[in-house]
Amino acid sequence: MIEKTKESVKYIRKVIGDFSPQIAIILGSGLGDLAEEFENKIKIKTSDIPNYPLSTVEGHAGNLVFGKINNADILGFQGRIHFYESGKIENVVYPVIVAYELGVKILIVTNASGGLNKNFKPGDLMIIADHINFMFLNPLQIFSPNVKRFNKPAYDEELRKLAFEAGIELKLPIREGIYCGVRGPNYETPAEVQMLKKIGADAVGMSTVPEVIVANYLGMKVLGISCITNYAAGISSTKLSHEEVTETAQKVKNEFSLLIKEIIVKIKQGKI
Ligand code: HPA
Repeated sequence: MIEKTKESVKYIRKVIGDFSPQIAIILGSGLGDLAEEFENKIKIKTSDIPNYPLSTVEGHAGNLVFGKINNADILGFQGRIHFYESGKIENVVYPVIVAYELGVKILIVTNASGGLNKNFKPGDLMIIADHINFMFLNPLQIFSPNVKRFNKPAYDEELRKLAFEAGIELKLPIREGIYCGVRGPNYETPAEVQMLKKIGADAVGMSTVPEVIVANYLGMKVLGISCITNYAAGISSTKLSHEEVTETAQKVKNEFSLLIKEIIVKIKQGKI
């Protein structure tokens, strides 16, 4: 696995030279356009990178985009790989390992999720305070047999605070809550949604948890932001669909971009 990522990184290095991103952003459903705003972009198709796993989900173009936001060097992943696509956890966390090998220190993970908290509505942006791994698998198996145990907050407290403040300053519908990661690919049943509320989750989605576990394992600081794209199944009377998810993500993408850019400004100002 690590040998494979090294080959990928060798190819990427040839394309980007000594560009050295400190921050990487995994862009979730419908949020990939943010990378189009990078200055001095270099875009690499994941299909051109040796060994790189490919995403097959609609709305998840597979590109690595290198460029600048406010003079910070950034790597954006347009499109992510979900566990349900291949059933291979190593594919899901592949981008995180590539980012790590390129020298990334801060990982910003974004996603779309269904709202469980009754105070949340579609279009809200939720800073992830913590997560529940309800995927019944753990990506650290790829490092076995010598997996070091660790315990630290999965989402960096300073980054969380900084992101929340950025959202308030920009007058965005900013929230904070617990993200529950499930395998999918179907949406939850209303009964499952009631269970997830009871175990303390505020939002549910099919990604992020594996990437965040590996990023922490590799010593990166992590910030997670979830776009609440819909009420989770059974919470409202409208029938939930992938179209609703991408439609809401499209609607909030400008606000989302503003938030990310402001966060990067603050990181750059040395507030981290
Ligand atoms: N459930 C799971 N994943 C999701 C949802 C949802 O309601 N919305 C967007 N991703």
